[in-house]
Amino acid sequence: MPKNSIIILAFFAILAGCMQTSNTLSEADKKSYLTLGDSIATYTQLMLLKNLTQAIEERGTTGAVAFCSEKAIPLTQDASETHHVQIRRLTDKNRNPDNKLSNETDKKAWSEISQLMNDKETQKKHWIGKEGDVVYYYKAIPLGMPTCLSCHGKKDGDIAAETLQEISKKYPNDLATGYEMGQLRGVWKVQLK
Ligand code: HEC
Repeated sequence: MPKNSIIILAFFAILAGCMQTSNTLSEADKKSYLTLGDSIATYTQLMLLKNLTQAIEERGTTGAVAFCSEKAIPLTQDASETHHVQIRRLTDKNRNPDNKLSNETDKKAWSEISQLMNDKETQKKHWIGKEGDVVYYYKAIPLGMPTCLSCHGKKDGDIAAETLQEISKKYPNDLATGYEMGQLRGVWKVQLK
């Protein structure tokens, strides 16, 4: 084979290698990442919910605002360490500014999951994104229980005046009210690899 052809072949071999690390995943990989991400997000959601329910029982709704403010991120961090991945909770209308959708992948995930929320056929509202070598799993956090309304519902009706006062004190730029049951409140973001 002439030397030039070998060089051209080598070039395409390298290019093909690079393309494998591009932003597409094989169907099999996607399926296994979806399963893994789902189990981590479900674990974290249940753990937070258990702690929130306990805080409301012990301190009432207004008292539980402080619990969410002090513990939601550290508890999510604990779940990250348990699973050796990075887990975050993000949203378009944030209460805590640290939970804001921040990059293009987050925004793409939000728009994909928002569409899935209207899709009655699809049970799991989740999405996988890839940036270079890094795989991200996102899963919907719907406003799934009436309890959520007592801190994220309508200001004139769902949220008690003293709870609202406590929220405003801790989060002067709060955007996370006015929700109705079933709406998309946030997403779990799990950095898998
Ligand atoms: C006792 C009040 C309270 C209740 C009840 C409550 N939340 Fe929240 N929620 C908060 C507070 C406070 C934060 C900000 C936490 C932080 O600083 O990280 C928050 C943050 C969040 C976030 C992260 C995004 C953001 O806006 O910062 C999501 C998602 C969320 N809540 C969903 C829910 C869902 C779903 C329910 C019902 C299961 C619920 N919350 C019930 C007080 C509450």
